[in-house]
Amino acid sequence: MIPFDQFQQNTLQQIETVLASHLPSADIEPRRLHQAMRYSTLNGGKRIRALLSYACGHLLDIKTSTIDSIACSIELIHAYSLIHDDLPSMDDDDLRRGKPSCHKAYDEATAILAGDALLTLAFHLLSKADCTAEQKVRCIQLLSQASGSRGMVGGQAIDLANEGQTVTIAEVESMHLHKTGALICACVTLVAGFRFDTSDSQYKKLKHYAECLGLAFQIHDDILDETSSSETLGKTQGKDQQSQKSTYPALIGLSASRQLADDLHNHALESLSSFDHRADYLRAIAGYTVRRTR
Ligand code: IPE
Ligand code: IPE
Ligand code: MG
Ligand code: MG
Ligand code: MG
Repeated sequence: MIPFDQFQQNTLQQIETVLASHLPSADIEPRRLHQAMRYSTLNGGKRIRALLSYACGHLLDIKTSTIDSIACSIELIHAYSLIHDDLPSMDDDDLRRGKPSCHKAYDEATAILAGDALLTLAFHLLSKADCTAEQKVRCIQLLSQASGSRGMVGGQAIDLANEGQTVTIAEVESMHLHKTGALICACVTLVAGFRFDTSDSQYKKLKHYAECLGLAFQIHDDILDETSSSETLGKTQGKDQQSQKSTYPALIGLSASRQLADDLHNHALESLSSFDHRADYLRAIAGYTVRRTR
């Protein structure tokens, strides 16, 4: 097994190549739309969702060509969610991944359409994945549920409705599990489904790992929004407070938020305790999630 750093570097290169090959080329009409899709998807992002899928694929010995389609589809949906998240009618953010947000670099209509097209492309790719028709349908069902109104999109709706409101910890937790946790969980469950039945204890353990990780990921994102800088983050620091977002630091303070993220990190690791060293990449991703600086 190569060291995690090397695995991470290889995965970044791999996902970049796969994404670049599946996105319509910038000189195909409508060019502005295709340019915007490539602008917001390529050369950016930590690719933690792709990393999770490849790490789970490594654990369960799933063909890389199959993981390529899963990881690529999820990163496309994630890129779309960020374009729409930044729109003036949502978080109104001008900076993303260290560059002007899509609607700033292009225009609002193009940003909306680029998001729409990335979402559609994701499911097109999944329909052509290197696996059986039955496996593809299962993946499409899981990913559509994780992305839609009962997953990420639903969480985004709750996030906007919660602005300026007094909410409970349980409500913030549910919002985070939907807007961020669902897609992060899908990175693992789509892959785990190739080896295990959903009732299998190994499947449940991997799913629980991913749920803990997804929540920890968004709590850490909330913490970084308060404590980091726009330069490091590549997005505008302090925006949550400015927009009166319901976040963990706003509700329970920074130190309790850090403690909670650490606890979730430990729960994630406990969930992996019955897996051997081949789960080490998943373990390393859990550590990275709560220690990352951006
Ligand atoms: C940002 O996600 C949006 C959240 C769900 C917190 P990432 O922090 O994974 O963004 P990129 O892909 O690295 O830019
Ligand atoms: C966004 O959460 C979650 C998504 C589904 C895109 P945030 O609004 O906190 O993400 P950032 O901080 O803008 O990346
Ligand atoms: Mg948001
Ligand atoms: Mg935002
Ligand atoms: Mg944020």
